[in-house]
Amino acid sequence: MAFEGLIINNNETQTGRKNYNKHTNDKKVYIETYGCQMNLSDTEIILSVLSEYGYNETTDINDSDVIFLNTCSVRENAEKKIYNRLKQLKSIKRGNPGSVVGVLGCMAERLKKDLLEKEKVVDLIVGPDEYRKLPHLIENLYETGEKGIAVKLSRDETYDDIVPVRKEGVTAWISVMRGCDKFCTFCVVPFTRGRERSRKVQSIVSEAKTLFDEGIKEVTLLGQNVNSFNDEGSDFADLLKAAAKAVPGMRIRYATSHPYDCSRKLLDTMAEYDNICNYIHLPVQSGSERVLKLMNRLYSVGHYLEVLNYAKSIMPGVGLSTDIITGFPTETEDDHKMTLELMENAGYDSAYTFAYSPRENTKSYRMEDDIPKEVKTRRLSEIIELQRKMSSKINRSLAGKTMEILIEGRSKKSDDFLMGRTDCNKSVIIPAKNNRPGDFVKVRILKSNSATLFAEQEED
Ligand code: SAH
Ligand code: SF4
Ligand code: F3S
Repeated sequence: MAFEGLIINNNETQTGRKNYNKHTNDKKVYIETYGCQMNLSDTEIILSVLSEYGYNETTDINDSDVIFLNTCSVRENAEKKIYNRLKQLKSIKRGNPGSVVGVLGCMAERLKKDLLEKEKVVDLIVGPDEYRKLPHLIENLYETGEKGIAVKLSRDETYDDIVPVRKEGVTAWISVMRGCDKFCTFCVVPFTRGRERSRKVQSIVSEAKTLFDEGIKEVTLLGQNVNSFNDEGSDFADLLKAAAKAVPGMRIRYATSHPYDCSRKLLDTMAEYDNICNYIHLPVQSGSERVLKLMNRLYSVGHYLEVLNYAKSIMPGVGLSTDIITGFPTETEDDHKMTLELMENAGYDSAYTFAYSPRENTKSYRMEDDIPKEVKTRRLSEIIELQRKMSSKINRSLAGKTMEILIEGRSKKSDDFLMGRTDCNKSVIIPAKNNRPGDFVKVRILKSNSATLFAEQEED
């Protein structure tokens, strides 16, 4: 790359080239984010890197100089969405030929220069570990017309020193580690995000403190597999503990935990500190031992349920959610029934459910995708229906209970109502009264559906 070796994030003119900084650049960047929370968090890092060079964010695509799609590759549908969006961007670019179009994130990493060749509208391809290069790639494009590509994965990039540009609100994400070494056989993430690496405990804790001072009331610590967090011997439970002690007024959540190494120490730490939310997202993927083996998930159904039961025993009322893939190669009707059975035993509050989608380069890609589409769809709808019933039942049982919620904002449906979240991650709607986002409010649950609780404020 022509600009390899440049000192990034340094506004002094190291190379004698024109340098963009807050005073000389008035360009506007528009960015759409697809995929998981890690990508949302990365978008905040991207905006920070660009703001150092004077780029401001705009939410109006027609008023932008730079258009970025921060993309996801996890299933074929995720990529289809991007191809469709790129088609639409063609006409936007026709109206504004000077605008720069960049594909960032996991799809950029997976497809690399193929995407540049295939999609003529794309000017820049930048993978998840190369965001520091963005300002220079854009600048080079302006100066030379040369399209840019930066897709090297790093063993140590964590963006530890970058202060994300966050959206207004009372909750925030803190990315604590990047990458994944688990190599589940269906999953593209280890290929798009590279090897696991962790930030420093101290830097994460001080970020949480600063956020609290700025009025943030809840943070979610993010990683593809937070249990692999390791900062010179400090594991994820140590990190949680350090954060919980340093900012006792802050609610702390995390995602995502892998059942193989979701340790007792971690669960005990959650139970010990009031400000660590009693909520675990623990993706199970399948209830069949045979399928779990084929997926390289490394745990048995028995071990998984043991972890859940221990969590329930030390954190009564703990919120539980999961991810399930249906239609993995060779999945039989019996395997499918075992998944339904496991759901009954686990008693999840909610589940994210997906039809298996073969991904190039993954191990399971070499297996025949032998479950017909209609079978996947039918199994998926059975899973969704069971979860809907179970969620409704759990939520109904909460009627009359008193809970504390953190108000996040207005209800989507009406300005007269507010939406808040319980410690165990349930969405609750209450009449607005005098409450505001950021308030902790005691409420009594009145009624519910499978996704939402409706409540009234408890009078003191
Ligand atoms: N790191 C997280 C999840 C990352 S991807 C974890 O380990 O749990 C989010 C979810 O997408 C996965 O849990 C899985 O359920 C689903 N998923 C991943 N690859 C998939 C594929 N090829 N087809 C269908 N669903 C997939
Ligand atoms: Fe993918 Fe498995 Fe890593 Fe999760 S743990 S990101 S499913 S490889
Ligand atoms: Fe998608 Fe990449 Fe996240 S593939 S799920 S955006 S890590």
